[in-house]
Amino acid sequence: MRQVIFQNFRLMFTEEIDSTNQWMQSRIKAGESISNLVLCADYQTSGKGLGENHWHSEKGKNLLFSLGLDAGFIAASAQFLITQIIALAVVDELSVLTQEKDFRIKWPNDIFYQEKKLGGVLISNTIRNGQLDESVIGVGLNVNQANFPEWIPRPVSLRQIVDREFDLQEILKGILKCFSHRVDQAKSMEGIGIINNEYHQNLFRTGEWHLYEINGEIAELRIKGIGEFGMLVMETREGKTIHCDFKTIRFLF
Ligand code: BTN
Repeated sequence: MRQVIFQNFRLMFTEEIDSTNQWMQSRIKAGESISNLVLCADYQTSGKGLGENHWHSEKGKNLLFSLGLDAGFIAASAQFLITQIIALAVVDELSVLTQEKDFRIKWPNDIFYQEKKLGGVLISNTIRNGQLDESVIGVGLNVNQANFPEWIPRPVSLRQIVDREFDLQEILKGILKCFSHRVDQAKSMEGIGIINNEYHQNLFRTGEWHLYEINGEIAELRIKGIGEFGMLVMETREGKTIHCDFKTIRFLF
């Protein structure tokens, strides 16, 4: 595999792999440190999405990478912080790169542009003595793909948004720079306050009434913010506050 050192990251590039997240997991199992290791692939034969979902991406068109983080400074109960850090890093980079303002984070782990899905994040953590150990952070971002298969719900790519093609490695490096900055922020209470505020400011649909499916029923709800353990805090029309995990709530479009 081709290797490049970029700042404190070791970047590895491959043409094809089953899943970059899976590859990182196998490095952990083999007893290797994955801290600051990044694997970027042109194509995944078995790209994983959240739950049972498959992550589709046309060969060579989009950004597909996994990043290893030594997350030992984060308590296991605060692991949602990693989701916040990477989602903000992606939005930070895309906003500067495109000068567009409509990138949002759709709770818990999607990157949206307006009402469409631009990317997704898939994280798996290992825990040791109540603290996180190594974390595998997988990111799939639609960049230069012009058309998507019909079965993908509401996809969009950067190319469709700004009508030009992008250099994938340049975006990767930009995201990694923003990521390092957010990781530094996450090491102080003040920085965590900033992360929480900015995550909230960038949260898709915050403060707007929309229909959701909650425990199998349809209800009109409004997102208030993020609660303990990264739960989504919502308000009902009757003024009741409810805390949802990602299995109980479904966004309707
Ligand atoms: C989702 O929205 O469901 C999360 C998608 C995450 C996809 C990325 S692509 C790179 C990394 N390797 C994988 O197998 N999945 C993640």
